[in-house]
Order: sequence, then C-alpha cells, then structure tokens
Amino acid sequence: MTAPLVLGIETSCDETGVGIVRGGELLADALASSVDEHARFGGVVPEVASRAHLEAMVPTMHRALEQADVQLRDVDAIAVTAGPGLAGALLVGVAAAKGYALALDKPIYAVNHLAAHVAVDRLANGDLPASCIALLVSGGHSSLLLVPDVTGEVEILGQTIDDAAGEAFDKVARVLGLPFPGGPHIDRVARDGDADAIAFPRGVVRDQPYSFTFSGLKTAVARWVESRQRAGEHVDIADVAASFQDAVVDVLTRRAVAACADRGVDHLVIGGGVAANSRLRAVAEERCTAAGIRLRVPPPRLCTDNGAMVAALGALLVERGIEPSALDFPADSALLLS
Ligand code: KG4
Ligand code: ZN
Repeated sequence: MTAPLVLGIETSCDETGVGIVRGGELLADALASSVDEHARFGGVVPEVASRAHLEAMVPTMHRALEQADVQLRDVDAIAVTAGPGLAGALLVGVAAAKGYALALDKPIYAVNHLAAHVAVDRLANGDLPASCIALLVSGGHSSLLLVPDVTGEVEILGQTIDDAAGEAFDKVARVLGLPFPGGPHIDRVARDGDADAIAFPRGVVRDQPYSFTFSGLKTAVARWVESRQRAGEHVDIADVAASFQDAVVDVLTRRAVAACADRGVDHLVIGGGVAANSRLRAVAEERCTAAGIRLRVPPPRLCTDNGAMVAALGALLVERGIEPSALDFPADSALLLS
C-alpha cells in the first residue's frame, strides 16, 4: 500500500502554509508570510494576519501542488490547524480546508498546532520514537511536553507563565534597536558578544519545575540598557544579546534535559521558531550528549510555522486509521492538547 498523500494547511499566526507529504516524505512546503506587514508594529497584528491569509491561501495552495507535482484530486486527506492560535487567522485556514474537503469529498483532520510542531520531525529525522519529550519554543508558545504518542496522548509538563521565548527575543531586540522579528538578529549579533558579560536572571516558577517565565528577564535587560544609556555609557549590544540569549537557552535546555531524566525518556525533540537559534542548538546538543539523550531538531525551515508540519501529523493520523473530524469542528484559539 502506498503511503497516504496528505495536504496540510496552517494559518494560526502570520504564516500561510500549505504542505504536501506522502507518509513521512515531504513533497511540498509552500509558504507566504505577512511578517513584513507587522514589522512596524513590533508584533503580529491579528486583523492584518487574517486578511493576509485570505489573500495568500489560494496562490499558496497552487504553489504547493505545483511543487509536489500532484493534482488536488490525488490528495487522500486534508489536515488543518484548528488551534491554538489567533482566532481570525485560524478561521481562514479552517474555512479553506473545509471548502477543499467538501468540494473534493476527502476526509478532513483538525489538528493541534503544538502536536504538529512535534510531528514535523518525522519528515527530517524519520519515525518518531515511542516516547519523547518535546520543547516547543516560538513567538506564541513555550511548552515542555511529554509525548507518548503524538497522534493522541500528549501531556503538558510545563509552559511559560508570561512571555513566550520568541516574544522575549523580539522584545529584547526592540530594546537593542534591532528589527522585528528579533530572534534571528539577536542570534547573529550575539556571535560577537560575551555570554558571560552580564549575569541576567534565570526565572524560576515556584512549584513548577518545567515551566518558564521570561518577563523578569526582559525587564532586567531593558533596565540594564536604559540605566547605561542614561549615564551616557556605551552599551555593547553584542554582549547584551549574548548574555540575554544565554539566559534563555540555559533555562530551556536545563529544564528539557531534567524532564527527560525525570520521566526516563531518552529522546528530545525541539521545535518552534526559536529552535532555529544557533546557541540553543549547540547547548542542547552538548547537554543531551552529556545526559545520554538523543536530540532531534528539524532544519530551521521546518521549525518555524509551516504547512508541512500539519500534513506530517495528518499523515500519521491517516496511517493509524484514526477517524477524521466531523465537518463542523470549530477553530479554537485556545485548543488544548488531548
Ligand atoms: O514558530 P514561529 O515561526 O511562529 C510562531 O510564533 O508560532 O516562531 C517565530 C519566533 C519569533 O519570535 C522569532 O524571533 C523567533 O521565532 N526566532 C528566533 C530565531 N529565529 C526565529 N529566535 C531566536 N533565534 C533565532 N535564530
Ligand atoms: Zn508555532
């Protein structure tokens, strides 16, 4: 039996993604981003994102079909992000997916965005292990998950209680006068800086060993920079970026490795836009190796939001014979993991 041809649609934030997979094989990953339209606001504007999805949906679909060299009628199933994410943005993808499913008379799968961030790893690193810990870090979420089965059982061990990791990168970048989204700029600038130059705080959440808090860190960086500027002192942006980045990377990797050890799991998957961070990749590799944990990180293009991740999870659902969703499922901005 040939593996199912699955189309995935992602519109939870500012990327319109349409991906096509055959089982665990990536055939197409078409993307349109409205990130430039949000840049002057320093963050994603929901209404702007929704409108951009509406304009980009059909052209992105056509590009994906062309890339994969398949026709819509060849598709076996359609998967779409039903949540969590921006309500209006999700609605565009969900409505489009329902339209395609209805017109083509194909099954539709409503999937969870976070689970899709984990499932995408199968496209890069082969079948997922029986059980893994996943660290998902992006502009909208920062979660540590125990994943016995990405198509069903997923337990949230911890998450951020305030800013997401990517949000912290973006806000600190703004303080340093770097463009939005700031993560890649901080990553680049930090390469010339000293990570030990400034001892920024590592936020701890009481009684929640796997949760994160970044708002104190963000404030500490802003205060540090402002006080130096007020005194007319030179601020070495590279040192600030490197020290801030190290504080984030230290808590993320320390807690992820601790979760693996505590739960007796020897595979760690990292996903989300912040997984593109070079320091995070290096420190995670170092700490996982030391702890006997196998690290799996998809290439940056698959770490950020995209349609292929949704298709990857959809294909797993089809392969496992899981019932498709009823056509009246809602877009749920606060969709929980099962
Ligand atoms: O997953 P993603 O594309 O979208 C969601 O937010 O869901 O993640 C975008 C986030 C932004 O906050 C961006 O600054 C951050 O990922 N990011 C990075 C890097 N590349 C992207 N953060 C740190 N280092 C990077 N190299
Ligand atoms: Zn995401």
